[in-house]
Amino acid sequence: MLSQLLACSGVDTVVIDRKDRAYIEGRVRAGVLEQGTVDALEAAGVADRLHREGLPHDGFELAFDGDRLRIDLRALTGKPVMVYGQTEITRDLFESRFADGQQFFFDVEDVTLSDLRTDRPLVCFGHRGDRVTVECDYVAGCDGFHGVSRQAIPTDVLRTYERVYPFGWLGILVDQPPVSHELIYANHASGFALASMRSETRSRCYVQCDPGDQIDDWPDTRFWDEFEKRLGPDIASGLRRGASFEKSIAPLRSFVAEPMRWGSLFLAGDAAHIVPPTGAKGLNLAVADVRLLARALAEHYSNGNDHYIDTYSETVLRRVWKVERFSWQMSNLLHQFPAHSPFEKRMQRADFDYLCGSEAAQQSLAENYVGLPLE
Ligand code: DHB
Repeated sequence: MLSQLLACSGVDTVVIDRKDRAYIEGRVRAGVLEQGTVDALEAAGVADRLHREGLPHDGFELAFDGDRLRIDLRALTGKPVMVYGQTEITRDLFESRFADGQQFFFDVEDVTLSDLRTDRPLVCFGHRGDRVTVECDYVAGCDGFHGVSRQAIPTDVLRTYERVYPFGWLGILVDQPPVSHELIYANHASGFALASMRSETRSRCYVQCDPGDQIDDWPDTRFWDEFEKRLGPDIASGLRRGASFEKSIAPLRSFVAEPMRWGSLFLAGDAAHIVPPTGAKGLNLAVADVRLLARALAEHYSNGNDHYIDTYSETVLRRVWKVERFSWQMSNLLHQFPAHSPFEKRMQRADFDYLCGSEAAQQSLAENYVGLPLE
């Protein structure tokens, strides 16, 4: 996405990835886009299929031990969200970048970053048996939580903040119509469940699981039994079970690294921050980062203005912390925490009851869900 945005401003990039294109296009990620993300994809010229195939949603539901609350995003904020898989966005971006003649290196190994404190940093890596060196003006570290970019910042400069949650999410894809035409987030004594979708005929469903669980612990029958129980009988009566064709487990983590710029290196997306998936902010946050980074670099190249480069880290982090807060709150509201005392369980229930009775609370939830302003 950064490469696409920069190309729109006439700035050349070289994209390198540890994985290959087929792997990247095959992996399943989240699927809810904020309006701001849709706007950015439009501005970048890659939203045609998104508008043909994406599903605009005006609201979603919360279910708490069988009680239900619809959050009317459109009425509360004037904005919808768009259901369209991250995998599909990646495909659309690849298609556009390849058509443009973008320079890519896939399947690279042993990436090292050097001279980051100069205006001529180097990125070196192994590629098809050769050692390649790219000399550039700036390095954008969009290489995820496990990437090398963040680790290139000296430990006496880097500050990190982390929370690990005592559970994971088990997700499946199945070719059955979604149980409801809107998303349902459920909290039940047995744990969290989320009924989502990728299309009118394809469902994406999640349940909270133990952090140490393996895929083999969760045959489809166990998954559906838990999923039905957690959604409650009213919702589950409309459910069509099917054979899953994708099944994966993700741990839940909140993480922030500061600063997000060091010399000629910028961090963006998961390289700098992780949110737990509740509320689907990971991709949206990464897109917000690269919109601000693209603006900073475009200003630098078009008129030598480095104001946005110099304020990148501070500006982005202010928004990052607010989105971290929202994802943490949604996660706290909707999961069963093994260590919760009866008091904490009551507090969680009171949070839900407050939400049900307060339009102000619903509006606060809704404005975060549809996406906070870019800055
Ligand atoms: C999906 C994932 C999320 O984390 C979420 O909050 C909503 C939807 C999804 O994969 O469809």
